[in-house]
Amino acid sequence: MKIISAILVSLFFVIAGCQQASSPVSENPEVIHGSQNKSKAIVLYYSRTGSTRVVAKTIREALDCDLQEIKDLKDRSGIKGFWVGMKDVSDKVTAEIKPQTLDLDAYDLIVICSPVWGMHFTPAITTFMSSMDFKDKRIVLAAVARMNMKAENMEELKKDISSKGGEVIKDFVIKTWFKSPEEIKEQTKQNIKDITELQSK
Ligand SMILES: Cc1cc2nc3c(=O)[nH]c(=O)nc-3n(C[C@H](O)[C@H](O)[C@H](O)COP(=O)(O)O)c2cc1C
Repeated sequence: MKIISAILVSLFFVIAGCQQASSPVSENPEVIHGSQNKSKAIVLYYSRTGSTRVVAKTIREALDCDLQEIKDLKDRSGIKGFWVGMKDVSDKVTAEIKPQTLDLDAYDLIVICSPVWGMHFTPAITTFMSSMDFKDKRIVLAAVARMNMKAENMEELKKDISSKGGEVIKDFVIKTWFKSPEEIKEQTKQNIKDITELQSK
């Protein structure tokens, strides 16, 4: 049993490491505006291989709100990118990101989407979150994982946000292993149903 688990975990790591980082770091990420933005909401995300981008864009479409990608300026591609990513998470490294900060005063709902690395949110997102002013903001946390994120790590993020005056109104994990972009979209829509209903009232 132990051998089978070890093989499965190794396979999981190798496949995750081989996935290509999907967007070049030289791009200049800018806010993409919703057509109405009645809800004063924004979706923030980082994505290495595209799944979290699918999640973020699905939420953005559903809320008709703004969208901002957070870029990690380190080369995260290939197997090397995977191992460096694992190390950066365990060393709690501050990532070099673009944009470093953003004026979020106008928003009352902020959706933060991150891939799960080593059972935590990614360095790009935790670095961005560390400079955020959460006071009086409603926050949604979306973790995007091949399998899962450790519940106690999500709880820690939530505690940190509430200690800074924010309210986490929802958190969820989108599971991507063997899932098509369409299935990821559907999972996302199911998870944010109650938020879209809340926003349309
Ligand atoms: C460095 C690294 C560590 C990862 N650690 C985990 C993990 O702990 N648990 C998990 O379920 N998936 C893990 N994954 C898989 C990613 O969370 C998953 O493939 C996710 O869908 C990637 O999102 P993206 O395509 O937006 O980058 C890891 C991937 C990488 C690159």
